Amino acid sequence: MKALQKLLILGSGKMGGSLLKGLTSNNELNFDISVVEPNLIKDNYNLISANKIKHYQSINDLKETDFDTVLFAVKPQVISEVCSGVLENLDQKKIFSIISILAGTKVETFESYFGLSPIIRAMPNLAVSEGSGVTALYGNNNVNKAFKETTDKIFSGVGEVIWVDNEDMMDVVTSTSGSGPAYYFFLTECLSLIAEDMGLSKENADKLSRQVAIGSSDIMKSSNDSLSSLREKVTSKGGTTEAALKVLMSPDKEFYNIFKKAIREAYKRSKDLSN
Ligand SMILES: NC(=O)c1ccc[n+]([C@@H]2O[C@H](COP(=O)([O-])OP(=O)(O)OC[C@H]3O[C@@H](n4cnc5c(N)ncnc54)[C@H](OP(=O)(O)O)[C@@H]3O)[C@@H](O)[C@H]2O)c1
Repeated sequence: MKALQKLLILGSGKMGGSLLKGLTSNNELNFDISVVEPNLIKDNYNLISANKIKHYQSINDLKETDFDTVLFAVKPQVISEVCSGVLENLDQKKIFSIISILAGTKVETFESYFGLSPIIRAMPNLAVSEGSGVTALYGNNNVNKAFKETTDKIFSGVGEVIWVDNEDMMDVVTSTSGSGPAYYFFLTECLSLIAEDMGLSKENADKLSRQVAIGSSDIMKSSNDSLSSLREKVTSKGGTTEAALKVLMSPDKEFYNIFKKAIREAYKRSKDLSN
């Protein structure tokens, strides 16, 4: 029988924990998983115990162990300490594959520590915790087909996956889908506040605006229609939606331009963080 692939996850906070949840709930993915995390929260502790995952407090507890893949899910601020810990403790005779979900941390940072390793940079978003995230993946020249497929499977277990072939695109992804859930929360918040301003109770306004967001997402999920035709379907001639869209889609593109300006700011910030 073929031995299971050994996967080490470094950091099991919000994102690491969500990925672990996806990995353990997907029968297609069968890894021998170890996790290094100094402060396990209760949910992740339960997940680890229920799935017989090995847990270590520190990378220093892993002397001379070898792994096929190491997934970095720590904060960018501690990356040099964590990479040094990996070099000092893991068996260096074997070249392991690397996956990093760190925002703004370029592939070259990992190359400077792990030279010949295949490295894949991933940018997931918060919705991976619900299994409905979207993750962009970018790999260096050492990544082969098998590693690509394995990584694709890991992130497909928690939502949709796209591949980009230029690392600069990771900043576009960060500013659109990485930060994206916050834009939708804000739009929903605006809808709720406006409904309240116009007379609904706070409770009703909140319930109504959340359900509009959920229902619209469900429609987008189940339909293959283009986004513009979905919009057109709810816009009857001379009706209320048309009246609102005339303002939102005014010829001077005021709404579109302000949204674009906001996303360009996120893009600039993402670029600054990675330099
Ligand atoms: N959250 C998002 O929406 C999102 C989206 C895309 C990408 N990311 C990326 O995902 C990464 C993790 O983010 P997060 O939100 O999951 O952060 P988080 O909840 O703070 O998780 C990071 C975890 O790593 C642990 N840790 C610290 N030092 C460690 C070490 N030496 N070895 C092993 N584990 C260590 C931390 O423990 P302590 O709490 O004790 O420090 C913490 O539990 C970040 O690089 C971020 O850029 C996050």
